Amino acid sequence: MKTFTDLSRWRTHRQHLNPEWRVGFVPTMGALHAGHLSLVQKARAENDYVVVSLFVNPTQFDQAADLENYPRDTETDLALLRQAGVDAVLLPDSAQLYPDEYAYQVTEKRLSQQLCGAHRPGHFDGVLTVVLKLFNLVQPHAAYFGEKDYQQLALIRGLVDAFFLPIEVIGCPIVREAEGLAMSSRNSRLSTEQRQQAASLYRILTQAPDAQAARRQLAAVFDRVDYVQDLGDRRLAAVQLGPVRLIDNVPLPTPKAGGAA
Ligand code: PAF
Repeated sequence: MKTFTDLSRWRTHRQHLNPEWRVGFVPTMGALHAGHLSLVQKARAENDYVVVSLFVNPTQFDQAADLENYPRDTETDLALLRQAGVDAVLLPDSAQLYPDEYAYQVTEKRLSQQLCGAHRPGHFDGVLTVVLKLFNLVQPHAAYFGEKDYQQLALIRGLVDAFFLPIEVIGCPIVREAEGLAMSSRNSRLSTEQRQQAASLYRILTQAPDAQAARRQLAAVFDRVDYVQDLGDRRLAAVQLGPVRLIDNVPLPTPKAGGAA
């Protein structure tokens, strides 16, 4: 496994990769867990060459404290990626990824303003901007994202369509703890008690009869409910628990056939 902290070295390396190879890419912010590793495994199975990026992207954090406290463990991440058979890891710093000091930004004006976007101003501008930069650097044939960040996944699909990028965006199922909590790097900041409490997010979303009932039940458990909303065939929610904002989504129950005559 090769690691690249220097993007000009990476770009030269990329130019010399076999043009026949299919390149798979998994962008991450590090502090890897089983959810990330499931993306890497799928990328490994479907591509000749697998690239992972580890970059805690400052432009997508709307709270300075969240950026500061975001978990970081590069040594463990690299060991996990080596074990998973990754070919190359990009570890750029902000100065290299943002030579323009974020003067150029990608803004989506509809979906990015709703749900998480309504509560985290500028968040999706930061995500879309860094993802476009990383796509241009890696030039992957396929890129892998978790369905936990369902809104992010929809916006990245939109980015690829809007800018005619020749990249297949592959969404991968949410990986959950035994009691249902969706895996997330930020979960490491929850106490044991908070982790148990956090599991009720998934339970309520799957069991409540509708979004309104889910909101009421969540409000009784969590410090704040940002939203519960149906989007396409999913029910999405974001809640605050102690120091951590949790997001999750579940498939909407399919209406039973044969109800009306
Ligand atoms: O999902 C994430 O980890 C990040 O939003 C991403 C896609 C790596 C961009 O920084």
